[in-house]
Formats: sequence, structure tokens, C-alpha cells
Amino acid sequence: MFSLTIKHYFRTALSSKINKNLLSAHSWDCLRGDESNSFAIPRDRMLWEKKALEHPLLTVNAKHLAMLIMRAGYTEVYSFGVGAAGLELLLKREIPSLQIHCFDYAKVSVDILKSLFVEAKEIAQFDILKDDFYPVKENALYLLYRVDTEFSDDEWRGIFRKLFHAQVSNVIFFPERMLTVKDIARESLKKLLFYFRNDFSFAGYYRTEKRFRELWGGLYEVADVRELGLSKCFHLKIIG
Ligand SMILES: C[S@@+](CC[C@H](N)C(=O)[O-])C[C@H]1O[C@@H](n2cnc3c(N)ncnc32)[C@H](O)[C@@H]1O
Repeated sequence: MFSLTIKHYFRTALSSKINKNLLSAHSWDCLRGDESNSFAIPRDRMLWEKKALEHPLLTVNAKHLAMLIMRAGYTEVYSFGVGAAGLELLLKREIPSLQIHCFDYAKVSVDILKSLFVEAKEIAQFDILKDDFYPVKENALYLLYRVDTEFSDDEWRGIFRKLFHAQVSNVIFFPERMLTVKDIARESLKKLLFYFRNDFSFAGYYRTEKRFRELWGGLYEVADVRELGLSKCFHLKIIG
């Protein structure tokens, strides 16, 4: 497969409210707080749980990750860009003893989550680009679940360098999807719509598998990879 990154566009009625750009903490907070869209975080604990439990993709992905975590013997998970933390909730249900730390840079989302996800060990604001990762124990796992779209290639290389310098040994990098030829056609059309209509926003980047692998090349190696739906779950180990 070839190495390619393309821009990704997303249709939302909140487009003008977020200045046609999804990549900011303000934009994410607008989406999380507006119950009319699928990214919203329900304020009610039962509705929040129901939303996660009824999400077919989240449940499949959580089961795969739970197996991987148990097999590898990880006891703590540090998850970055958790959003509504549906996956993290399902992981905690699969492995009740797992200590889960949740981070996101969007303040409103973090505040809502604090009132919902009471079993989490920690929920805090953390900016993946600006804040420093800290070294964790050998039996801890850093989780980057569907945050691939949020950063450019240069930003990702910087993030992996930061992880490497903090000596973070174990990382799960689980992108939203692997870019396909169909996506290239679809995103070209959406790009046109973005310029001519107000209900389309810039929503980050899609990449081919080859490009993903270049982002951590020389710093991390793939210990295990598993195809799940349109995506792949990469279990990365620090080199050296
Ligand atoms: C596509 S959503 C994925 C959310 C969640 N992981 C999921 O799969 O449902 C991306 C998330 O990353 C967060 N995010 C984006 N940039 C970030 C940054 N620089 N630091 C921390 N979180 C960030 C956003 O607030 C948003 O919740």
C-alpha cells in the first residue's frame, strides 16, 4: 500500500458555531455538550452507559483490547483523547480491577466525565501536544484510541518523540480507520462541499497504513497488529 495522508471533512449542523474547524478544544466541547449530535456525552449515567453498551464498534474493540491487556498483564491504562470515554467504560466492565486514567484537552467534556465515570482512577485535562507525558510502570499501557485524525504527520512524529523520551514502553495506537481509495474519492467531494457550504467542517486527517507506520518508525516497533472493521489495532513497544 502507498503512503498517504489526506484531509478529512465532516458534516455537522454546528459547523458555523465551531468556525468550520473541529480541531480545537472549544469545537469538541460544543459537540460534546449538544445533545442533538452523536458526539454528545449524555449527562445521565444510565444513558451514558447505554450509549456505550449499544455501540457495536466500541463493544468489539473493547473486547479485543481487554483480551490483549489481560494477556500482556497490564494493570493500568492511561488513555488520551478519551472524549465520551465509552471505550474506557467498557474496558473497566471487562476488567474490573483495571486502573483507568482518562485524559482529554476539552474542559467541558472532562467535567461531565468526572460526574459520570466514578470508577476511573483519574480524569484530568491534558493536552497531548503541549503537556509532557510522564514515565509509567512497566505494567502500564498508553492508549491512543481514535485520536489519529486530530494531528498532522509532523505533530504525530513529535508526539511519538515525546513518548519515546518519556520512556513510555507500551502503546496501543488504534486509528479511526485505514484510508482507502474509496475514501480518497469521498473526501475530495467533501472538500468541495466544505468550500461551498456552511455545514461542512475540517475534521483532521486520514492515512494509509504505510503512512501510520512511518509516524513511529525508529522509535517503536509493532509487537502485534489486529484488523478490526475498517481499522487496525497496533500494539507498539519502545525500541531499545
Ligand atoms: C475523534 S475523538 C475520539 C474520542 C474517543 N477516543 C473515541 O474514540 O470515542 C478525538 C478526541 O481527542 C480529543 N483531543 C483532540 N486533540 C487533543 C489534544 N491535543 N489533547 C488531548 N485531547 C485531544 C478531543 O477532545 C476528542 O475528544
